[in-house]
Amino acid sequence: MKTSYSLITGCAGFVGSNLTRALLEQGHHVVGVDNYSSGLRGNIEDFEDSSRFHFLNDDFSEQDFLSDVFDAYPVSKVFHLAAIVSVPFSIQHPKRTIQQNYEAADALRKSSQAAGVDSFVFAGSAAEYGNDQRLPLKEEYATSESDHESPYGLAKFKTTERIIQDNYGCSLRFFNIFGPNQNPTNPYSGVISIFIDRCLRGKDIIIHGDGCQTRDFIYVSDAIDAYLIASGIKPRAKPLSGVYNVARGKATSILSIAHKIVAITGSNSRIIHIDPREGDIKHSVADIDKITEHTKFNPKTPLTEGLEKTIFWYERTNAVTKKHTRVPL
Ligand code: UD1
Repeated sequence: MKTSYSLITGCAGFVGSNLTRALLEQGHHVVGVDNYSSGLRGNIEDFEDSSRFHFLNDDFSEQDFLSDVFDAYPVSKVFHLAAIVSVPFSIQHPKRTIQQNYEAADALRKSSQAAGVDSFVFAGSAAEYGNDQRLPLKEEYATSESDHESPYGLAKFKTTERIIQDNYGCSLRFFNIFGPNQNPTNPYSGVISIFIDRCLRGKDIIIHGDGCQTRDFIYVSDAIDAYLIASGIKPRAKPLSGVYNVARGKATSILSIAHKIVAITGSNSRIIHIDPREGDIKHSVADIDKITEHTKFNPKTPLTEGLEKTIFWYERTNAVTKKHTRVPL
């Protein structure tokens, strides 16, 4: 049988590297692309020598790149995760963000369709809802009338909108993913990675505001399950199309996250409160009925178990000093 490949853009990023590993472990062939703008070599070094992994250190949006890849590899699945990931950067560079996170993403989707790729899965974001406080958030709440709050949120929304209009592809709207390979070295890194990093280094945990703000946290392996389901890989099925929230559907306060991490790490870190972060959303929680009713998706990892696994990984890899030395975009 002819080998077919999964193309993963952003394969050296936090989620992309976890997805690449999962596909390789299941025997798939992967073409991974990353320009290391926020991805890290350390995230792929465990499997970079695998004969089933072909790494391209490129920017997926460069001219001719897509036609070259589709000519060289018989690709049947595309997972598009590469993006400018920093919201503050997107506010400073709106044109560049729209170009990379929307126009180039949509061009990749169209090239995938033209190349006969059977599934195109896009990493959407809760940022597409902006500061909508009609909780829990349902897929249809994000519209072109929404205040997307940042070019990052707008670009993610516009790409999802094109997926729906064209009826080709699937956008998974992820809420707050955490787990191994998340880079804690930036003030806008995921809060869980920052808190674990600080606890392990004995530094105070800093909470913006009273800590009563809530988020819908999902462990990375559950997010990977959503990718496998959406692409029709596991269980083997027709790929999904349209937009689906991916989260646990449970709100957790930032203060309780801080306490749990202090308890699990046994750290002496104190919890300190400073002024709320400008532009912060107070509450965010997803309605996950659509994906759980249409598919077998079932986020299996309880929050505490996910935190324990993540802390174990940071301790084991000494990730803070060994891997995460670059500040991402
Ligand atoms: C997340 C995304 C962001 C997106 C937004 C919209 C991440 C890392 N960020 O932001 O790209 O635009 O959703 O849906 O996924 N906090 C502290 N102390 C810290 C760090 C954070 O108290 O040291 C607080 C923040 O002020 C915030 C909460 O923790 O209230 C979560 O922060 P963060 O992990 O950055 O995620 P979002 O704000 O949800």
